[in-house]
Amino acid sequence: MSTCAPLTDGEFERARRLALRLAGIELSDRHRDLLRRRSERLGGRDTLEALLVAAEEGDADARRRLIELFTTNVTGFFRHPWHFDLAAEHALWAVHRRGRARMWSAAAATGEEPYSLAMAVIDVFRRDDPPVTIVATDVDDGALAIARNAGYTDAALAALPTDHRARFVEESPADGRRRLISSVRRLVEFRSLNLADVVWRLEGVFDVVFCRNVLMYLEACHRYAVLERIASMLPSGGLLLLDPSEHLGGAASLFVSRGDGAYTRRPPEGSVTIARRRDAP
Ligand SMILES: C[S@@+](CC[C@H](N)C(=O)[O-])C[C@H]1O[C@@H](n2cnc3c(N)ncnc32)[C@H](O)[C@@H]1O
Repeated sequence: MSTCAPLTDGEFERARRLALRLAGIELSDRHRDLLRRRSERLGGRDTLEALLVAAEEGDADARRRLIELFTTNVTGFFRHPWHFDLAAEHALWAVHRRGRARMWSAAAATGEEPYSLAMAVIDVFRRDDPPVTIVATDVDDGALAIARNAGYTDAALAALPTDHRARFVEESPADGRRRLISSVRRLVEFRSLNLADVVWRLEGVFDVVFCRNVLMYLEACHRYAVLERIASMLPSGGLLLLDPSEHLGGAASLFVSRGDGAYTRRPPEGSVTIARRRDAP
């Protein structure tokens, strides 16, 4: 079988069904060529065919490798820099109130987003060990392995402000990559999590959730369900960050927009009434 030939309708339909079933990802016709090019990296269409068969039979490793094929991990340090300032200031406020803050990067890809957050937090708290936890999750285990290692090329690190690069990046490169220093790495805890799963292995509430550039890949009902569940994990006034080009759609009533992709959790229905009753003479 030629490795350059486009995917047949049958192959693409099977891939489309698996993407939806395994990760809630909606593949459209424009993904057909993308998928063909990615499968070349795996060793060609024969490998793709073998993976489709194994994944359909329930093989966990084949499913993991297919998910890696379906996902797009484009990311970078400090994309929309003001989101990080806002999130770090919010963490400072949460710590003043409760002593600790918890943040979640829900589609962390190769780690640039949660590590940017860690740097912003260290800056705002003016200490290397702020009382903040950053949980960073993704469905793509290959991307998470890169994230855990925290080694980046000079091209990726060029997006860091100069002073951050001097303070937070180790000097000597290994295999063409430089690692972020341990105080930044220590703040971030990576876990595998599929937003399309019925159960999320995540306990407790978060003060801030980054859910940027992932909803656009998910099928519409998953998009709404994810936002609804995130809303249930944020306290009133908790902060949600989306890419500024993304929209809340059917979940708009759960949040108040602060502009440019930032939203705060609206108090759940009934909570105002209860507060008023408690305050009443
Ligand atoms: C374009 S990257 C976004 C990275 C980062 N949030 C940013 O904005 O720079 C999209 C990420 O979403 C992840 N993703 C796609 N479907 C997912 C799912 N069902 N559950 C969790 N993560 C998913 C992909 O693996 C990929 O790493």
